[in-house]
Amino acid sequence: MAKIIGGYFTSHVPGIGGAIVRGDQDTPYWRPFFAGFPPIRTWLAQARPDVVVVFSNDHGLNFFLDAMPTFAVGAAAQYDNADEGWGLPVYKSFAGHPALSWHVIDALVRDEFDITTCQKMLVDHAVSIPFELAWPGVEHWPIKLVPIAINTVQYPLPSPKRCLALGRAVHRALQSWGGDERVLVCGTGGLSHQLDGPRAGFMNPEYDLFCLDNLAANPDALTGHSAEQVAELAGTQGVEILNWIAARGALGEAPMAEVTRNYHIPISNTAAASLLLEPV
Ligand code: DHB
Ligand code: FE
Repeated sequence: MAKIIGGYFTSHVPGIGGAIVRGDQDTPYWRPFFAGFPPIRTWLAQARPDVVVVFSNDHGLNFFLDAMPTFAVGAAAQYDNADEGWGLPVYKSFAGHPALSWHVIDALVRDEFDITTCQKMLVDHAVSIPFELAWPGVEHWPIKLVPIAINTVQYPLPSPKRCLALGRAVHRALQSWGGDERVLVCGTGGLSHQLDGPRAGFMNPEYDLFCLDNLAANPDALTGHSAEQVAELAGTQGVEILNWIAARGALGEAPMAEVTRNYHIPISNTAAASLLLEPV
């Protein structure tokens, strides 16, 4: 059985990558955001995960509006990064863990989640930036990746309830895995933001704090809203909170302890947050 050591959650704003390239981490604009990461890095150095199961959304790199899986699980031996248009550097490739991916896929389908399986998958800023924040400047990523993509882009979106259930099914899959890998769960994106339309620039600290306050001990509280209500509350890109909800589900049903949390408005157009949870 895999050992689930904790959950790492962070925003994935592309501008973070630009700040890293320019060495702007300690400037007045960026410092309040980057200040969230030293405690996470210290914890990771001690916790030494072997595998990260990362829930994120694809931003048009693998899937476009013509073919949009609701849930897609990677089963590749390697995941290359590509920039879908932000002008970011191309980040290091990730080693996959195909055997664990296929175990998760098999378990999910038996659990009646009709997922898409991807033997080829690119990863965009939603994966690379959280890892660059966690392990800045390493020569090789110290973990293997099992990526799970959730549609947060095109109507109709999965509900928070369904995303939590998906995560819990991933948790059960990890529990029935024969290996003894140390698994970190990761959810990326959010918190509230809206990049386009009449409400561009919309953020909602009240809803963000509701999510942050309930994720550790009472994640079911986040399932009282429909996907449409989350778009209203969090903004049309703030629905990336669905990735966090699924990742929380993958930590299982027991309450979690909050190791560290940071919340700062704004980074680019986003209410940015980082959070680390571990079993009580
Ligand atoms: C921004 C945030 C995102 O989550 C994203 O994918 C792209 C841009 C932003 O605030 O600039
Ligand atoms: Fe995004």
